Amino acid sequence: MLELHSDLARVLITPAQIDQRISQLAKTISRDYQEEDRLYIIGILKGAFIFLADLTRKLEIPHIVDFMALSSYGKTTTTGAVRILMDLREPIENLHVLIVEDIVDTGNTLSYLHKILKGRNPASVKTCVLLHKVRDPIDVPLDYVGFEIPDVWVVGYGLDFADRHRTLPFIGELKRD
Ligand code: IMP
Ligand code: MG
Repeated sequence: MLELHSDLARVLITPAQIDQRISQLAKTISRDYQEEDRLYIIGILKGAFIFLADLTRKLEIPHIVDFMALSSYGKTTTTGAVRILMDLREPIENLHVLIVEDIVDTGNTLSYLHKILKGRNPASVKTCVLLHKVRDPIDVPLDYVGFEIPDVWVVGYGLDFADRHRTLPFIGELKRD
């Protein structure tokens, strides 16, 4: 096995575990939307791009992929403020929308986005997150969750720390400090 980078404390979720869980999620989502003519999937940049790529390639239903970019944290501290940096290509009125996000921590980002998108009158909006840091209750429904994780900073599989470690094939826990 490759040596773990010295920034990392441990591997939290292996590539095989990620792959297996995403297959299950894709099956569930495909089943839930089998009656609809298509699903409008919104990936949140940058963090969700790898999860989104793997998830969508396992879906068995017609779907469209689009992206949004939201302002994010500087490093590991939260500011609370969320801003749209890049918006969707198309209106989503009357469409079935699935938001795909890398991780939910306070729930601020997803809750804000969920409200904005609901305001655009889609047929439905659901959320799919790879990771949920379980802390305080959040005020947005999580419809599909890959893994619940402890309150640690994680990197890899799309997630970064100041843009580092984003393309590791596993989810790793960053050392503190
Ligand atoms: P929330 O708004 O507090 O739920 O934070 C969500 C956003 O913060 C995610 O979209 C990530 O970009 C970022 N984030 C939160 N925790 C982590 C982490 O452990 N690793 C990498 N990014 C994180
Ligand atoms: Mg993010």
